[in-house]
Amino acid sequence: MNAQVLNLVIILFVVQVARKLDLENPENIIYVRSGYIGVQTLILSICYYLATIIKKKNDTTALEYVEPAKRLTDEPSKHVETTNRDYDLGKLQELLKQTVIGIGFMMVLHLWFEFTQPLFIQSLLPLKITYENPLVQIHLLGKPAEGDLKRPFKTAGLFGNLVDSQQPQTDKTSIKKAKKASNSGQRD
Ligand SMILES: *[C@@H]1O[C@H](CO)[C@@H](O)[C@H](O)[C@H]1NC(C)=O
Repeated sequence: MNAQVLNLVIILFVVQVARKLDLENPENIIYVRSGYIGVQTLILSICYYLATIIKKKNDTTALEYVEPAKRLTDEPSKHVETTNRDYDLGKLQELLKQTVIGIGFMMVLHLWFEFTQPLFIQSLLPLKITYENPLVQIHLLGKPAEGDLKRPFKTAGLFGNLVDSQQPQTDKTSIKKAKKASNSGQRD
């Protein structure tokens, strides 16, 4: 079962549990809120800690790859030359942004529309997603940056289809092609 399908199954399961728990009861809301705030604080702390570790490690190994064209935004593929340190910090920023946007979205849902269920779900699911984040796996859990954790990280598409053409490419041919395209100002 791929990660996205598993997430979907977990959401459906958590929704069922949430239904049983009578979350709209004012007595319970305090627990849901505390749980949510606790989890988000934990994730933000992890981000902060990761930034410290990545900067301290200062892994300046060169990293070169081709970022694939983005389907929905018309952004062409681009040639990227960076270091492991800067790449990781970039990915960390993505995680941070995702978390902050999520918190903003949940505040609107909860405080404005008075939904409590999403708050409960967003207290559980991000724990799994953060645990699976390659940066957490490498820098916190000390796993080697190989295989699935090799930079550049694979990005899961909608429903987790790891279609090759959408993945960052690291082979010489792709890099050469992308370099040439960007040098001559051509787009894709
Ligand atoms: C990181 O390493 C680079 C090159 O090895 C060096 O120039 C730089 O000063 C180092 N930065 C820190 C913060 O240690």
